[in-house]
Amino acid sequence: MMTPMVRIATLGILAAASLTAAPVFYRDVLPILQRNCQSCHRAGEIGPMPLMTYKDARPWAKAIRESVVTRRMPPWHADAASGHFRNDPSLTAKQIATIRAWVDAGAPEGDARQSPPKADFADGWRIGKPDVVFEMPKAYQVPASGVIEYTDIIIPTGFTEDKWVEKVEIRPGNRAVVHHISMYVREPGVEWLRRYPLGEYFLQDGRGLTGRETRPWETRFSGYAPGAPPETLPPGYARLFKAGSDLVLEIHYTTNGKPADDRSRVGLVFAKQPPTKRVLTLNARNLDLAIPPGASNHAVDGATTLHADAELTLLYPHMHVRGKAMEMRAVYPTGEREVLLRVPRYDFNWQIRYEPLKPKPLPKGTRIEATGYFDNSANNRFNPDPKAEVRWGDQSWEEMMVGFFEVAVDVRADVKQLLNEGPKFVN
Ligand code: HEC
Repeated sequence: MMTPMVRIATLGILAAASLTAAPVFYRDVLPILQRNCQSCHRAGEIGPMPLMTYKDARPWAKAIRESVVTRRMPPWHADAASGHFRNDPSLTAKQIATIRAWVDAGAPEGDARQSPPKADFADGWRIGKPDVVFEMPKAYQVPASGVIEYTDIIIPTGFTEDKWVEKVEIRPGNRAVVHHISMYVREPGVEWLRRYPLGEYFLQDGRGLTGRETRPWETRFSGYAPGAPPETLPPGYARLFKAGSDLVLEIHYTTNGKPADDRSRVGLVFAKQPPTKRVLTLNARNLDLAIPPGASNHAVDGATTLHADAELTLLYPHMHVRGKAMEMRAVYPTGEREVLLRVPRYDFNWQIRYEPLKPKPLPKGTRIEATGYFDNSANNRFNPDPKAEVRWGDQSWEEMMVGFFEVAVDVRADVKQLLNEGPKFVN
């Protein structure tokens, strides 16, 4: 047996050795790439190049150093002062120093036997192997050009019993043409979109704000947008899919000069244990926004009050190309205010979702507020028309101001009470 003295001495030598040796790929860099980069930088994902192997990473070494030192990668836009988040992928100062030292030393390979175990991306899924996969029954044909209105398809789940779901991943079949996908779960007995066929693509009549059919808010589920990770809930938290429910997918296709087709998929992982909390999606938004031409910092407010006890599990700011910044706050029944999230430089290319470290209690009567800031000036290089007054709409030259948030309630609670006077449908 080693005496304590000897053990301390040995640790000292090990620490000294790892401080002086230059970092090498397999032992020091690959674990960081696996945890913080490969979810996007692998075949079929949104990163422009894979970073799976030494061969992949070596030619990008300098760009990798630059991207991590400037904290452009991995993408994350919450102001650190506004809180800490469970899914924050940001590198630590030590990890950044490791990558910098590795690149400065000429990006040495090291010994492949020191590799960490391979990251498991089962058949491309980030949620592990799904318990069930729904694929769109036929391909959607995207023309070479033109604007495509939001397109819907209804897929019956065939579930004969209630299912609790803890992970959901929506995978576009063709990322070049799928701009984003919203998913809804329509329970039996809900009239919404009943007059449309199952398993066929269709456009809803009466697009825009007025002609739409009333959709119960609790149908809102999850979505896919570039940069948004799949939904993975903490243990004990799950989404309810009632027996006989249908999935409604609303897909925004964009054309890119070549005809293309798409068959997107939805993967679900069921909860292994009965959950104690049911998760639902709400929002604080403003449908009446009118952003004046040329305005460089136009604020738009939205708010939603909770009429039952809940816990906050996720925040998700959503605006289009004129979106510049967003803040989300809680105003508690005591009158006390708390900033939940501040995104000082919103970037519509990254639909990032922020998960509080622990679900945060929101007592009955709490109001969730969102303020979005818009830049409709010519200085915004993404602005398609600084002379336009901009109103709410689906397309990217129109705007939205939505502070999505997710809450969890007791599985036995009557969810209708949460929003007893809330909006009839929620975008
Ligand atoms: C959420 C997805 C995502 C994650 C996680 C991510 N990236 Fe990226 N990365 C992208 C996308 C998309 C681009 C291309 C668009 C852009 O440059 O903003 C990109 C671009 C880059 C580039 C620039 C390539 C060029 O053309 O110059 C580098 C380098 C890079 N990433 C490295 C990393 C590293 C290193 C990590 C982990 C520490 C990482 N990325 C994590 C999605 C991601």
